[in-house]
Amino acid sequence: MTNKWSPNSWREKPISQVPAYPNADILAETEQQLSTYPPLVFAGEARKLKKQLAAVADGQAFLLQGGDCAESFAEHGADNIRDFFRVFLQMAVVLTFAGSQPVVKIGRIAGQFAKPRSSDNETKGDVTLPSYRGDIINGIEFDEKSRVPDPARQKMAYRQSAATLNLLRAFAQGGFASLENTHKWMLGFVSDSPQGERYQALADRITETVDFMRAVGITSETNHALRETDFYTSHEALLLGYEEALTRVDSTSGDWYATSGHLIWIGDRTRQPDHAHVEYCRGIKNPLGLKCGPSTTPDGLIELIDLLNPHNEPGRLTLISRFGAEKVGDHLPKLIRAVEKEGRKVVWSCDPMHGNTITLNSYKTRPFDRVLKEVETFFEVHRAEGTHPGGIHVEMTGKNVTECTGGARAISAEDLHDRYHTHCDPRLNADQAIELAFLVSELLKKGRGGIPDRQVVNL
Ligand code: PEP
Ligand code: CO
Repeated sequence: MTNKWSPNSWREKPISQVPAYPNADILAETEQQLSTYPPLVFAGEARKLKKQLAAVADGQAFLLQGGDCAESFAEHGADNIRDFFRVFLQMAVVLTFAGSQPVVKIGRIAGQFAKPRSSDNETKGDVTLPSYRGDIINGIEFDEKSRVPDPARQKMAYRQSAATLNLLRAFAQGGFASLENTHKWMLGFVSDSPQGERYQALADRITETVDFMRAVGITSETNHALRETDFYTSHEALLLGYEEALTRVDSTSGDWYATSGHLIWIGDRTRQPDHAHVEYCRGIKNPLGLKCGPSTTPDGLIELIDLLNPHNEPGRLTLISRFGAEKVGDHLPKLIRAVEKEGRKVVWSCDPMHGNTITLNSYKTRPFDRVLKEVETFFEVHRAEGTHPGGIHVEMTGKNVTECTGGARAISAEDLHDRYHTHCDPRLNADQAIELAFLVSELLKKGRGGIPDRQVVNL
């Protein structure tokens, strides 16, 4: 591996998951245009996020990362963004309260468009077409024209990201995200949920706290921390031509930053140390995520950490483990021990989605129990190793879709066809996502030595 890095040095490396664009000139012209567009996020924001993630690495905060598996052009409405944000904030407030720690909030949003695929082609009957690779690349419809990669989609994705981010910034800073609002929505969830009484005790304690603060004069009117929130964006840095076009020098530090999102991550299929995706990511200064799956070995992980975080900067690297409920107990301790032995500072986050996908009635789905089980085992392993279970990474939506089975409303295999809308993997719906936060809150409370609430069913 040569040490010389530039935003395009990845082009000299082997690369996987590359779309077959029919016209290289049009692609190059599009990338050139994108490189003149304004940045979507700013270096100072990425630095601030890195600092907050350093607190997570240090055991002082918890990370909540979540959103769509794949954003789509068809579902780009204010309602979708609002509903997602509302659910996400409810999850965050529950986790903040239970852990008595700040929750760092990162959406899989405003740029999460490109998807790695296990096969280059998809076959239906006797027709074989290129696989759908996300709206930034080609169309999901199963016809020849839609599946041809089209560079113009990159500009669409950029504009959609800009509009989404604009709304999110307004929501985060304009009062919508106030503690009073979030608290009110959370109470609505508890009273409507079939398992509501299970969450009542924690909800009551949050209510008492909010009432107490109001009584002593701390409200969102008097205190901006209760009125506003920091919210960051993230996506998988898969389509490197697009990423390169949005890679800019920060005028304050002279460093290169990806300006397509605050945090970008390397997927499980593209983390070969001598390949293009690792090459691109090692040179930018944003916080990075790295997916770790069953094929990640302890030595392989240390090699990647050497490349991606050579100065052992806390907050730079979040390891997102995604083993599956059955495998996490075997694999995770080995990785933690290697990282601890080498003294590397990382955030450990649990993606309980990607190792727990099964097919039922021809639908890709994830049983809620298995999702929860992976998170529980992740916490248990960290407690046993004496390390900080730093966060969770989930695929979720603010809508009441029927994509994952189980949860308090017990979605069954037969229900899946009702509202199965995802463009890629099955997401937790609004109720399942908040429910997961309540269940994780129990794990957090146990971890800080809190006496588990007797009215809450122990996990
Ligand atoms: C994803 O997060 O959408 C994804 C594809 O994950 P992984 O790379 O872990 O399979
Ligand atoms: Co996914």
